[in-house]
Amino acid sequence: MNFEKEKDFIRLINSVKHSGRLQEMKNYTQHGRITTYHHCYSVAKTSYKLKEFFHISVDEEELIRGAMLHDYFLYDWHHFDGPLHGFYHPKAALANANQDFQLSEKEKNIIYSHMWPLTITKVPRCREAWIVSIADKIVSTRETLFER
Ligand SMILES: [Fe+2]
Ligand SMILES: [Fe+2]
Repeated sequence: MNFEKEKDFIRLINSVKHSGRLQEMKNYTQHGRITTYHHCYSVAKTSYKLKEFFHISVDEEELIRGAMLHDYFLYDWHHFDGPLHGFYHPKAALANANQDFQLSEKEKNIIYSHMWPLTITKVPRCREAWIVSIADKIVSTRETLFER
């Protein structure tokens, strides 16, 4: 990304990162030593890079907000004994996000469909949701393999 685009990304992130309980995600670990906050930040950045690289026209604010909220489930999934975390957490993330934010339909779709195809009926229905779902898979694989 060039300097101007990098600046745009930082501006978008700064406008959301202190809202709601986003900072609380620093208390939970995602993969290895990576916190959920760090993971969501990486997914937001990768989403932004993907849309730049492929010149995909998106609503940037919704893309970044959806990416930062996609794992807003706010618990340590390693100690979670409810239904399987992989299936359940998009629902939990959406419920929390609905409590703290006035979400657009695209943002809701980004959050609840990001695990597709695992959650087979929750299909990404906009470009923003497809991008975040793909970015999440790229970042999760990287974190699991290389950043433990
Ligand atoms: Fe997730
Ligand atoms: Fe994720």
